[in-house]
Amino acid sequence: MSQAIRYDRHGGPEVLTLDDVPLPEPGPGQVRVAVRAAGVNGIDWKLRYGFMDRGRLSAGPAGVGVEFAGTIDAIGAGAGAGTPAGSAAGQGGRSVGRAVFGKVLSGAAATHVVVGTEHLLDMPAWLSFEQAAALPVAVETAWRTLRELDVKEGHTLLVHAVAGGVGLVAAQLARTRGVRVVGTASPARHDFLRELGVRPVEYGDGGDGLAERVRAAAPEGVDAVLDASGRDVLAVSVELAGGPDRVVTIADGRAAEYGVRFSTGGAGGVPLAEVFAEVLPLLERGALRVPIDTTFPLRRTADAHRLSEKGHVLGKIVITVP
Ligand SMILES: NC(=O)c1ccc[n+]([C@@H]2O[C@H](COP(=O)([O-])OP(=O)(O)OC[C@H]3O[C@@H](n4cnc5c(N)ncnc54)[C@H](OP(=O)(O)O)[C@@H]3O)[C@@H](O)[C@H]2O)c1
Repeated sequence: MSQAIRYDRHGGPEVLTLDDVPLPEPGPGQVRVAVRAAGVNGIDWKLRYGFMDRGRLSAGPAGVGVEFAGTIDAIGAGAGAGTPAGSAAGQGGRSVGRAVFGKVLSGAAATHVVVGTEHLLDMPAWLSFEQAAALPVAVETAWRTLRELDVKEGHTLLVHAVAGGVGLVAAQLARTRGVRVVGTASPARHDFLRELGVRPVEYGDGGDGLAERVRAAAPEGVDAVLDASGRDVLAVSVELAGGPDRVVTIADGRAAEYGVRFSTGGAGGVPLAEVFAEVLPLLERGALRVPIDTTFPLRRTADAHRLSEKGHVLGKIVITVP
């Protein structure tokens, strides 16, 4: 038997239940992972409310959670030793007991998850399960959006909501590439952001005076903007960057109104192996840090969602599985 956080109707955190479910069996090219930790993301509660895909309950209760870390406990046909997944990060092969982390479309907040090996990476020994589970979405999204923005050494990047998971990774990755970073956050985060080499700017009430504050922090001008906030900052972002093609949002559904690209990972986004080939060495030597704001046990996933929905997390929330 297995246990999974699920919901059978859209709504607030109270619709989540911890259910006994049959142990999922891996199909060809898949493995089953005994989950030790799962990251929490905005998409978890946006799906739960039905903001994104109201059709997904037609086939029965839906699972929750799109990223995890754990150990392989069963291997489907063709998914064992010699599979290429993860090879770019210096690993190969799959075996029972191996520690891994990765992404799924849903169902990571559970004791077991079944996943295709292309969405899986081997976990280095220096990472904890909690830390590894916090990485896939933030790292893949940050890496992808920096590529879409084509930010280069000497550029200045503005990141809205820089203290969230995606914002922190984008800012630090950009810094390692010689990019100057300005980021919006509440004053309580500013000292921490300065430690990372980010010039912090208050987002303020309703964004009043934001353009002036950014110009004061970046007198050289802004070359590109990543909106990880989604709180009505696209007009000011286009103004600051000098055009909509220099702005990417991951959180504002009105992107098209401003001629701005809405970036999404879609069915998996950029291959994790490619992304983590750059990022794992940075994490190992401390050039990239992803703080864990709070951890919750699996049975308290609803509380994890409540905290995420409040929108003031530093880094990531992680669910732990005993
Ligand atoms: N499209 C994609 O591929 C994709 C992928 C991942 C995430 N997302 C979305 O991107 C957004 C960011 O996700 P996340 O996980 O990085 O972070 P998050 O947990 O959703 O955001 C937390 C951060 O938002 C900041 N914040 C709160 N109010 C703000 C405001 N008015 N202006 C600017 N920042 C504000 C908070 O800063 P303070 O604590 O300082 O207030 C906090 O650090 C979410 O909407 C998520 O659903 C999209």
